Amino acid sequence: MKSAPVIAIDGPAGSGKSTVARKLAQRLSLRYLDSGAMYRAATWKVLRDGVDLNDEAALAAVVENMRVELLESAAGVVVLADGIDISKAIREPELTARVKYLARMPAVRKGVGAWQRKFGENGGIVAEGRDMTTVIFQDADVKFYLDASVETRARRRFDELQGCGQDVDLDELQREISERDRSDCERETAPLRRAHDAVYVDTTGLTIEDVVNILIAAVEARTG
Ligand code: C5P
Repeated sequence: MKSAPVIAIDGPAGSGKSTVARKLAQRLSLRYLDSGAMYRAATWKVLRDGVDLNDEAALAAVVENMRVELLESAAGVVVLADGIDISKAIREPELTARVKYLARMPAVRKGVGAWQRKFGENGGIVAEGRDMTTVIFQDADVKFYLDASVETRARRRFDELQGCGQDVDLDELQREISERDRSDCERETAPLRRAHDAVYVDTTGLTIEDVVNILIAAVEARTG
């Protein structure tokens, strides 16, 4: 395998891409870029500062003036915004529901995209999100699109959140995931779509290990 490949993975919420990308990165000794965590971090700061969610210039200015770091730890990715650990806060449902206001603004995507390109400038990464294969790392060495049925994705989120002690309702989660699919796929700027050269993997009914093994085989076949 090339020493510093860029592997890009896109897919909808709950397709398993975060867990799979993190494990793939570990197995291949690459760094893991959780691009959604960057959008979440920007949203955290915007909400904390009480910035108007419809004011594109003000939102872009927040992104321009903040520093986000993703650090690896045994427990997962630690997200720091200007040195403050916001790893837990960015997973709160109230914040999750507001990320779309930033994600649809071109000026915000430009700023967050610059953080992401900087993270990957020397290669050696597994990047995961909604536009990693189509916009940010268009020249990635290997691209994947992970998918699963809405029911499966809602059930995974349910198990994940319950595991963290959060009180959640399965039907409500399914509605929330369908709504996120709609806003991620229908927005004008960098909508979620499958790149023509991405390997499509339907993860419904597969375990995380199965998916990681499928991806590793595909990476080896493509990078030698
Ligand atoms: O992947 P995650 O669920 O953490 O992403 C949160 C939200 O951030 C997504 O629903 C999407 O609106 C946005 N996002 C994006 N582009 C990315 C990653 C995430 O627009 N590359």
